[in-house]
Amino acid sequence: MSITRNEELIGMKKASEAVAYTLKEMRNYAQPGMTTKQLDNYGAKILSDFGAKSAPYLTYGFPGWTCISVNNEFCHGIPSDNRILKEGNLVNIDVSAELDGFWSDNGGSFVLGEDIHQHQELIDASKQILHEAIYNIKGGVRISEIGQLIETEAKKRGYKVIKNLTGHGIGRSLHEGPSNIANYKDRFNLTRFKKNAVVAIETFIATTSTYAETLHDGWTMVGNKGGFMAQHEHTIVVTDSKPIVLTEMNEIWN
Ligand code: CO
Ligand code: CO
Repeated sequence: MSITRNEELIGMKKASEAVAYTLKEMRNYAQPGMTTKQLDNYGAKILSDFGAKSAPYLTYGFPGWTCISVNNEFCHGIPSDNRILKEGNLVNIDVSAELDGFWSDNGGSFVLGEDIHQHQELIDASKQILHEAIYNIKGGVRISEIGQLIETEAKKRGYKVIKNLTGHGIGRSLHEGPSNIANYKDRFNLTRFKKNAVVAIETFIATTSTYAETLHDGWTMVGNKGGFMAQHEHTIVVTDSKPIVLTEMNEIWN
């Protein structure tokens, strides 16, 4: 969406507060020994208290309130009673929701407890690259330029980017135009970021894979060449200078 009235900015701020606070709290709550279903239930309660509803459920009928992906799972992991979190797991939580007709999206990867499997470097790369990408976005910048920046920074650190997962416009629904904010330079995409546009910017930084594939459960995505992936995502408003990071309070950059 494009913000044209102050009420729209207020609506987006409220929806963004709900998803950002939920993500932060879920991350703090996550403990070894807990199931991903327990973690999702905790997030569901917080979202409900805000009056917010799960965006992937409303939009796609996703079987959960939030997406929780562990280790080799890249994204869209289904909260499950059978999936028990363990020390050193690479965990990704993605929280998106609708509140009073406004939609916001954010996510982040982290290591649960001690980093016994050395995932932190990948996570730090993803965080830093998201930060750099976001602060290079303003009205008039080509979407492909930001994709190029993300891929260049990933390669510099010895990582790859996932080509078939992208950021997206958001606001009045979960996925809006501009629809393909890729993590690489898509030379066919001549679209530019527009002032006042609301967009979800997300990184997909991987160790070995370049494509994500869906498992037989119809949701969970894993890498075409295995390995691990870190994702960090903020919903922002594009301006003439620094963007407004609507989901800043999720603390994924801390
Ligand atoms: Co998103
Ligand atoms: Co998301």
